Amino acid sequence: MKLEDKYKLLEKKKKEAALSGGIDRIEKMHKAGKKTARERINDLMDPGSFVETDKFVTHRCSDFEMQKNKILGDGIITGYGRIEGRLMFVFAQDFTVFGGTMSRANADKVVKLMQTALKMGAPVIGLNDSGGARIQEGVESLAGYADIFYLNTMSSGVIPQISAILGACAGGAVYSPALTDFIMMVNKTSNMFVTGPDVIKAVTHEEVTKEDLGGAMAHNSKSGVAHFVAENDEQCMMMLRELIGYLPSNNMEEPPFKTSLDDKFREDEKLQTVIPDDPNKPYDMKEIIVTVVDNNNFLEVMPYYAQNIIIGFARLNGQVAGIVANQPQILAGVLDINSSVKAARFVRFCDCFNIPIITFVDVPGFLPGTTQEFGGIIKHGAKLLYAYCEATVPKITVITRKAYGGAYDVMSSKHIGADVNYAYPTAEIAVMGAEGAVNIIYKNTLNEEERNSAVENYKNTFANPYKAAELGYIDEIIYPKETRIKLIQALEMTKNKRKTNPPKKHGNIPL
Ligand code: HXC
Repeated sequence: MKLEDKYKLLEKKKKEAALSGGIDRIEKMHKAGKKTARERINDLMDPGSFVETDKFVTHRCSDFEMQKNKILGDGIITGYGRIEGRLMFVFAQDFTVFGGTMSRANADKVVKLMQTALKMGAPVIGLNDSGGARIQEGVESLAGYADIFYLNTMSSGVIPQISAILGACAGGAVYSPALTDFIMMVNKTSNMFVTGPDVIKAVTHEEVTKEDLGGAMAHNSKSGVAHFVAENDEQCMMMLRELIGYLPSNNMEEPPFKTSLDDKFREDEKLQTVIPDDPNKPYDMKEIIVTVVDNNNFLEVMPYYAQNIIIGFARLNGQVAGIVANQPQILAGVLDINSSVKAARFVRFCDCFNIPIITFVDVPGFLPGTTQEFGGIIKHGAKLLYAYCEATVPKITVITRKAYGGAYDVMSSKHIGADVNYAYPTAEIAVMGAEGAVNIIYKNTLNEEERNSAVENYKNTFANPYKAAELGYIDEIIYPKETRIKLIQALEMTKNKRKTNPPKKHGNIPL
């Protein structure tokens, strides 16, 4: 072959690979309101930065006459590129090629990518859109999945792993995204389920649509499997870029600092009146969070699930922080099973990746009831307790109002290793609310007048932050309007925190 022909051959193969499963299948995707794998990668990465690897890989299967049907790339696009200049590894299942299904060769591409990402200390973003195991390859496909699950687990806590679900994701295929740190789904075009509607109907006689069973909102609001929902593929890529902007590239790095133009000393008078006079009146904790963070930018994680607790990322004077906050507007901010698990996983994520945790507390306690007790609130609540105890990143706490009972201990109290504990003058740090306390202490021995006076007495003695401050459990009682600068000072003071837990193989978090 002449030199010129050799170059032509390469050109031809490149063009062939770029066409994936062909124009018809690409058009079918567009008609369904979806973008192709390549278009998604283009939207995700900095322009021109994506380098595709293994684009000439084909499957090695000869069952079902598959040797006659080979498509370059074999249904997955892998490579690396940049997001805001930072190195990222990405794979995108290409639905136009064998439905983006997992073959041995396809899995090998992902495994190679993940191993390289781990070595280079850079995040992996997976864009999932696949019919699952490639049926023609049988156990080869299952082996490929398992290799990926193993690497997901080995990479956990070392490099951030993020999954976007942009189409079908069913059967065991759901477990790779489930092992990653964050799952983003696209409304109306993505599904996740272990068994689909037909199997469910056959086994349990339940009738449910794909969307109700495993659509974006099912997993964002009901199951808690997913963390974000986007309206379309394009928005999903933008949201992935935003999320990754808060995360370090690996567990040995600090999260990315961004110079802030927001005044470090900015005070906000409106915070002085956010907490209502009446302690039983709800208010929106998000108002406090949004007011104090840089440019009022707060990226809420799992905004539709267990809304009695708020989690998310923000920056303060340029430094990234993970925020956990009770939300008095929903269920009075009580801790229940779902909110405990939601916050526990987030606290552990922040701890893995050197992200300081700021906790805003207004919690009346744990939710009572048989549903909670039989559901295991004891072990699930313990997850949050465990997560806070083991976290060695800077921990800063602001008690805005109620910090009652065991929930006071759990929500990043001084006793479980918080570094800076603030309280507003409106804080009430006590074993329980005044009414409940008086009922228990005096049983039914008081008339109404005596009861009222006992309640008032309890409130004066305990429903304030001063007892805890006298004991040094609260470092400083602050005006709400100065929250921003106080948090920034605490972040600056704790910046070089050195703390390690006793050496162990790993702890035994109550799962
Ligand atoms: C091989 C598959 C396939 C599969 C789809 N295709 N699923 N090829 N193995 N599992 C192919 C189709 O033949 C078709 O090829 C192309 O992908 C697109 O599929 P369509 O059915 O035309 O698309 P659509 O109507 O959009 O439906 C998409 C779908 C459906 C919902 C994903 O294809 C489907 O239900 N597939 C089967 C899903 C499944 O049961 N997978 C196994 C799950 S178990 P052509 O050539 O016509 O374009 C599993 C175990 C994993 O995954 C275990 C891990 C531990």
